[in-house]
Amino acid sequence: MSNIINPITETNLGKIWHRGKVRDTYEINNTQLLMISTDRISAFDVVLNDPIPGKGIILTEMSKFWFSKLSDVVQNHFANIPTNNDIKGISKDELSRGIIVNKANRIDIECVVRGYLAGSGWKEYQTNQMVCGIKLPSDLVESSKLDEPIFTPSTKEENGHDENITFKQMCDFVGTDLSGKLKEISLNLYNMASDYALTKNIIIADTKFEFGFINNEITLIDEALTPDSSRFWDVDNYTPGKSQDSYDKQIVRDWLESTDWNKEPPSPNLPKEIINKTYIRYKEALETLTN
Ligand SMILES: Nc1ncnc2c1ncn2[C@@H]1O[C@H](COP(=O)(O)OP(=O)(O)OP(=O)(O)O)[C@@H](O)[C@H]1O
Ligand SMILES: [Mg+2]
Repeated sequence: MSNIINPITETNLGKIWHRGKVRDTYEINNTQLLMISTDRISAFDVVLNDPIPGKGIILTEMSKFWFSKLSDVVQNHFANIPTNNDIKGISKDELSRGIIVNKANRIDIECVVRGYLAGSGWKEYQTNQMVCGIKLPSDLVESSKLDEPIFTPSTKEENGHDENITFKQMCDFVGTDLSGKLKEISLNLYNMASDYALTKNIIIADTKFEFGFINNEITLIDEALTPDSSRFWDVDNYTPGKSQDSYDKQIVRDWLESTDWNKEPPSPNLPKEIINKTYIRYKEALETLTN
């Protein structure tokens, strides 16, 4: 999670309720929020100086696609696409990248599901062959497919990095009954989405869901199954035993690695070619998944 939360600023849409690395959220009223995906891009936890024009529109389209596809598994916070009528001062550009969502009472846990061993899961596995307290076979390599997807929750820290926790710790934090339900829902969402993505030649290696309560019902909130909240890999290039190229940001990461940047802000300016290639990659991901 972002540790770069800027001070509340005033815009044409009023006060920002929350500014993440990528999204700006506005409070419409007591029950609804307007979430706008900007074109900001982060790499190595730093928001880069250059946006990727059009990227935010793609992210919004992707979340909308999954909300609609997965609505039988659990209700979600999507309420409407914004219009000029319901939001004063909204620009054409903001209309294209915003969604109106129902405000939830957030459950402060990141519900992560992993079908493959990557990122912080792979890191932890190397120390004790476990991920979040789940013992795994001893012969796994980086990016190995797991026998079955596992639920590996983490804390949601407002500042700093989220921390992996065991299911038992989650139960102590939000209750056993709720934890069991969130685990089951998360695994169902992941299984359904990853089965579908495979038919499009995309592996969803892992993903993160957030939930809250709306009218006392467990509700999927935040973004869903975007490249910002998930690892998407290309089936054709999948090679266990190393880290995989991610579907979206790899071009930017590789370019940044080729510079002598120390990964502290400010980032070097991205060449036009890298910006264009990255946009094309995001667009491909959306088209491949939704066609
Ligand atoms: N329906 C909702 N009701 C209440 N809060 C929500 C809802 N949907 C999302 N949120 C919260 O709104 C915030 C959206 O912020 P956003 O994801 O843009 O930034 P972030 O999570 O702080 O940082 P990052 O850039 O790392 O994602 C998150 O704190 C999320 O938990
Ligand atoms: Mg977020």
